[in-house]
Amino acid sequence: MMSAGRTLLLLTLCGALGGVPAQQDWTDLIASEMNPARIEEFLRILTEKPHLAGTPDGAELAEFVRQTWLDQGLDSAHIAPYDVLLSYPDPDKPSYVALVDENNDEVFRSSAGEPPVDVDPPANISSVVPPFAAYSPSGVVESTRLVYVNYGRTSDFDLLKARGVSVRRRIVIARYGKTSRGRKLRRAQDRGATGLIVFSDPREVVGTGRGRTRKYPAGWYAPGTAVQRGHFLYTTGEGEPLTPGYPAKDYAYRMEKSESDQLPKIPVHPIGYTDAMELLRLMRGYEVPDSWRGLLDTTYRYGPRFGRPKLSPATKVRLNVNVRTEQATIHNVVGIIRGDVEPDRYVILGNHRDAWNLGAVDPNSGTACLLEITRALGEMMKRGWRPRRTLMFISWDAEEHGMHGSHEWIEEFGKIMSDRAVAYINVDIAVRETYTLRARATPSLRPLLKEAAKKVPWPEPTPDGNTLYSVWRQRSPADSEDPDSDPKISLPASASDFVPFVRRVGVPILDLAMVHRYTITYPNFPLYHTAYETFHLQKAYIDPEFKFHRLMSQLWAGVAFSLAEAEILPIDVSEYATTVREMFHWLKDEYGDQFETAQISLDALESAVANFTLAAAAFEESLSSIGNETSPIVARMYNDQLMQMERAFIDPLGIPGRKFYRHTVLSNGLYSTDTFPALGDSVKRMGSDWTDPGQASKLRDVMEQLSIISFFIQSAANTLATPASTVF
Ligand SMILES: *[C@@H]1O[C@H](CO)[C@@H](O)[C@H](O)[C@H]1NC(C)=O
Ligand SMILES: *[C@@H]1O[C@H](CO)[C@@H](O)[C@H](O)[C@H]1NC(C)=O
Ligand SMILES: *[C@@H]1O[C@H](CO)[C@@H](O)[C@H](O)[C@H]1NC(C)=O
Ligand SMILES: [Zn+2]
Repeated sequence: MMSAGRTLLLLTLCGALGGVPAQQDWTDLIASEMNPARIEEFLRILTEKPHLAGTPDGAELAEFVRQTWLDQGLDSAHIAPYDVLLSYPDPDKPSYVALVDENNDEVFRSSAGEPPVDVDPPANISSVVPPFAAYSPSGVVESTRLVYVNYGRTSDFDLLKARGVSVRRRIVIARYGKTSRGRKLRRAQDRGATGLIVFSDPREVVGTGRGRTRKYPAGWYAPGTAVQRGHFLYTTGEGEPLTPGYPAKDYAYRMEKSESDQLPKIPVHPIGYTDAMELLRLMRGYEVPDSWRGLLDTTYRYGPRFGRPKLSPATKVRLNVNVRTEQATIHNVVGIIRGDVEPDRYVILGNHRDAWNLGAVDPNSGTACLLEITRALGEMMKRGWRPRRTLMFISWDAEEHGMHGSHEWIEEFGKIMSDRAVAYINVDIAVRETYTLRARATPSLRPLLKEAAKKVPWPEPTPDGNTLYSVWRQRSPADSEDPDSDPKISLPASASDFVPFVRRVGVPILDLAMVHRYTITYPNFPLYHTAYETFHLQKAYIDPEFKFHRLMSQLWAGVAFSLAEAEILPIDVSEYATTVREMFHWLKDEYGDQFETAQISLDALESAVANFTLAAAAFEESLSSIGNETSPIVARMYNDQLMQMERAFIDPLGIPGRKFYRHTVLSNGLYSTDTFPALGDSVKRMGSDWTDPGQASKLRDVMEQLSIISFFIQSAANTLATPASTVF
């Protein structure tokens, strides 16, 4: 309440000064220029046809974005193409799952796609690519055995093993959720399964609470016919599968498909829960524990025995997959507004454009917001505004196939981005629901995000507050026990096009989305990657007046504006130190005793963390003393340090076994821990007994990772020292 009033007062005061608008005024002008009706119109145009990566319709929409940016008054807009390995279903031979009887006749076949539904405005569902598993090999596999593997996590396979249920030479069925498609497949493949069926369980896609539980086309939830598409690559930051590490230019050397470790080797196909019921109800074997049960009206069993003569003549499961994996051209679009003081410093706003379907949620709710931001900025340019630093707008292609557009672009321009990029702000799905903000950020950008959210009005009356910040804090507190808690801002987990920016080159990132309340039950949203992601879904059930799309545009533009305009970059190094300290304390609390038993000292790490904390405080002290008479060169010196601090965490050799994840603090660990990823993994691998001589080589890994992370934190501390106090 206070902050909204204060912002308003400040705006009024600034406005009264007259003449060329002050910085604060431009923020306000940009925010008020954004118009929900225009965002709606952009979304309607973007979702008229499917625009899958590598297709003529995909290329056409890229050209539409490029032309729109030129018409809106951006300085330039061009296409950055790459030739990458993509994957499509065979239109003449749909893939399916079948039940087969003793005569080898198919007595059941999974549906070839979602049935059309009558909605206003109409949506051409049949034009959407049919359900398929991108990058699955083609082939037919059959088995008289079917094993249910729950979510397909390592712990799920471990439980099966403990129960004596083997998946070897058998087809397995997994529900979507908890772990990525590629990881489910890789685990099944490594354990000898011959094929994988994945399905959306009602537990993950149907509302169970009171209130909004209706299924599309009557509501937001998934009918049994809806199928989640997606890619099944096993990715660890390589980008396009055949040119890992290098841009997929026309002259690029490409490895053979058989050499790629990312491509699945066993066939896989996704189905909806109506079809999954046909399989699950015929399974035999022991009943699964509670945590494995979904919400289908049948008894969930492990298998492997299959067939219930009383219910069906089926004795076998057949998986028939026809998928073409082939090279095609993708089209990133890059739009630019040149900065007038620091044209060689880039603030980048990015969103992918390609979709499995019509894309009204994923990702074009984001694209519609991006086009409205560029329109508003174009209007400001007509009134004489130009940012201090360069603003870049990027519409990525082939995110759905494995984030190829952004990875290839970073592979081509990573060196320049490492030198010149201030920050990358990603929005994938802008609005999947309108309950609260979900934010991911590199630690140094958290304060900026909170400040920007304080300036964005919440568009509906609610007792939770009248700014985005107050509602967000109320509904997503970092600490739900504490009424004064900050809002929750996560570290950047791997999920969208920000990954190569932060993990390859160490560019600070933000990733923003409006989401629903039940983040745990519906990790994405029920109709995610189904044919029913229509304009109608957005208009009828998510954001009918596009007020929350405007809110997202205001927030996205607000953070970008601060990063592009502030004389001293709004990058907070002390916040970074806080995160690094938390990671250290977690490690010490969880594993301090083991380190002691093994006689491994944590002193160097502790000293590096303390040095980084002190360096951050000293840097901020020095910054606050320069006053407002700063020469541009002095400002630039401080800003360079602020930018380079994040780069200091980049290890060009990568973290063990994943050479393209190079950020030593913000890459994902293989195991879930709240500490430095590579060290956390090495510690997890030790198990409980650190004195066992058989563990010597694992212990060696712990010592190596401990020294590496100590070095990188000290190295970050060094980037913050003043020129006079730097010791070489
Ligand atoms: C729907 O899309 C299909 C495939 O692209 C096309 O053949 C058909 O004409 C479209 N129908 C309408 C009503 O636009
Ligand atoms: C921390 O700083 C002190 C004082 O400059 C230095 O002696 C020490 O080696 C530093 N720690 C690490 C891990 O480099
Ligand atoms: C410097 O900033 C302070 C606080 O914002 C302001 O009161 C003062 O007038 C400024 N000085 C100059 C020379 O602009
Ligand atoms: Zn997306």
